[in-house]
Amino acid sequence: MKKFNILIVGGGSTWTPGLLKSLCVRKDSFPIGKLTMVDVNEERQAVIGEFAKILFREEYSELEFEYTTDKQAAYAQKLDFVFVQMRTGGYGMREQDEKIPLQHGVIGQETCGPGGFAYGLRSIKDMAQLVTDVREHNPKAWILNYTNPAAIVADALQQLFPEDKRILNICDQPENLLRSYGRLLERDPRSFDPVYFGLNHFGWFTHLYDESGNDLLPQLRDMILDGGFRPVDYEQRDQSWLDTYAMVEQTVRDFPDYLPNTYLQYYLYPDKVLKKLDPSHTRANEVMEGREKRVFEACHEVVDKGTTVGASVVHNDAHGEFILIVAESIAYNKGDNFIVIIKNEGIISNLPDDAMVEVAASLTANGPRPYAVGEIPVFYKGLIEGQYAYERLTVEAYIENSYQKALQALTLNRTVVSAQKAREVLDALIEANGDFWPELK
Ligand code: G6P
Ligand code: MN
Repeated sequence: MKKFNILIVGGGSTWTPGLLKSLCVRKDSFPIGKLTMVDVNEERQAVIGEFAKILFREEYSELEFEYTTDKQAAYAQKLDFVFVQMRTGGYGMREQDEKIPLQHGVIGQETCGPGGFAYGLRSIKDMAQLVTDVREHNPKAWILNYTNPAAIVADALQQLFPEDKRILNICDQPENLLRSYGRLLERDPRSFDPVYFGLNHFGWFTHLYDESGNDLLPQLRDMILDGGFRPVDYEQRDQSWLDTYAMVEQTVRDFPDYLPNTYLQYYLYPDKVLKKLDPSHTRANEVMEGREKRVFEACHEVVDKGTTVGASVVHNDAHGEFILIVAESIAYNKGDNFIVIIKNEGIISNLPDDAMVEVAASLTANGPRPYAVGEIPVFYKGLIEGQYAYERLTVEAYIENSYQKALQALTLNRTVVSAQKAREVLDALIEANGDFWPELK
């Protein structure tokens, strides 16, 4: 069996231990020859890298492993897959992304609204560099990108590398929703055949077929309207995520056609959500005080003890497993169904061909083969076109160094609307992002 060479970019992420554990669990179905991790943050990479050495010694001794802060050396190796989960500016900048808009009375969120805009301008630069450098040495490696804001990153990469067919942008939220539906319906979520359309963090499930072709969506909608909605792993979730999932019930009550992605709450109910957000303590704080602290403490504990046996559990296996089943579907041409981000080109027939849409696809050795969606109703089309214009203008603001396009982008965003507020927030974000951003003239 071929052994694959893998590079994890963003090896110091809080999500990495879960991915490493999943690599161990799946070593027979997806054998790895060499694994490399790279992160620009030496301290974080070292903690997780040392933890990994112990984990692999105990569970994957045949694996060749190294970690580094040298991006060029990492990209120059012979690679089959690159898993990208970088966060330019770290949680410190996520905190700014969330807090600055809130100071102006606008939604502050990691990927939606001005926060996602700010993060987008930071991510594009590093992602474009990564693709250029990886391709110099590895023209055929698959770049599986989980870096946020995925919608903006995907659009930027599509503009900057239009011929590159081996970059796949994918988000775990549709999969999280499918798993949550599975728990509610008491069925295996992998048996579902979903129909989904939209943009990343901005989409809807229209059907959820079972193996016999029955659409389970009407039943699921009734269950949500009767009993509310929770994430599959609600026992492990922080309150802010429980609140987010709970908003699905109201969304379905107002717009019962389809089941919404949870991120739509920020666009459809910005005033209501805003009241729940605390400008002095945002999700970034919750993550830094919770998951980040837990993961790094647990890794330290393993390193101090010299064993993972009896140590605190550091991993979220579901997330790592998702990354690997996506890779396996490509590696072995399995054609499993996933919801992916892909250039529209007629999939949703009444949206622009060049939009990066999120839809169901069969994932093969040649990448995603999308399933046609056809025409979508005017309400959804209108929402998506506004968001698509915002995303496109964000990318153009980056490429053209255009303050004017940045201002247009934020004005179009449903979480902002007022051009005056858009300018205030934009100026504050320029100040906070410094050299992370291109100069906007
Ligand atoms: C979901 C989204 C990701 C996002 C993450 C944030 O998984 O699909 O795009 O980054 O949630 O989770 P966090 O726990 O960091 O707020
Ligand atoms: Mn996502």
